[in-house]
Amino acid sequence: MTAGTVIAVDGPAAAGKGTLARRLAAALGLPYLDTGLLYRAVGRRVLDRGADPRDAAEAEAAARSLTPDDLERPDLRGPMADMAASAVAAIPAVRAALLDFQRAFGRERGAVLDGRDIGTVVFPQAPVKLFVTASVEERARRRFLELRGRGVAADAAQVESEIRDRDAQDANRPVAPLRPAADAVMLDTTALDAEAAFVTALEMVRARLR
Ligand code: CDP
Repeated sequence: MTAGTVIAVDGPAAAGKGTLARRLAAALGLPYLDTGLLYRAVGRRVLDRGADPRDAAEAEAAARSLTPDDLERPDLRGPMADMAASAVAAIPAVRAALLDFQRAFGRERGAVLDGRDIGTVVFPQAPVKLFVTASVEERARRRFLELRGRGVAADAAQVESEIRDRDAQDANRPVAPLRPAADAVMLDTTALDAEAAFVTALEMVRARLR
């Protein structure tokens, strides 16, 4: 029933898209792609060169020379990497350079892809689109716990302010802004733990595919 199906999972920072999309992919027997990693890897490459992630020429060159190994780097998360990813993601040439890879990945045997523009730009024809949200306070709480779990010192207020800044940057950019597709199913996970979010999402997906 699901072979070749593309499932788009979009939403703001730290809404739990990654955990959810990975579990959906496993349950449905589909490959999974975390598209945020692509933007994170581009941002990281630009930072490595000592350049500004808002520099369009630098960021485009980094996007065009991305390799699979870049996606395995251990330093793709954290406040600097988060903001660098969001900065390069606002550059049209970067998005264009990453588009073919994402489409080819999804077309091969179907896939679950998570990001910001999967349902609006990358796969506007996807039969199932979820837009996963949670209150900004809850998302900040989750990201704070995640950082602490990884042994990263973090300040709760600062984590929340970084998430607000990044959401604003992602939602207000002219190219592929963060917004739900007209035909997306909305899933607010503020009051749901990871298991409840997964069960609810799987039911939504099955209802759409029925
Ligand atoms: O895990 P988290 O929700 O914090 O972020 P992510 O999904 O890894 O995405 C990092 C950044 O990449 C976002 O803030 C967006 O600016 C950008 N991004 C995007 O523009 N389009 C996508 N499809 C995925 C990520």
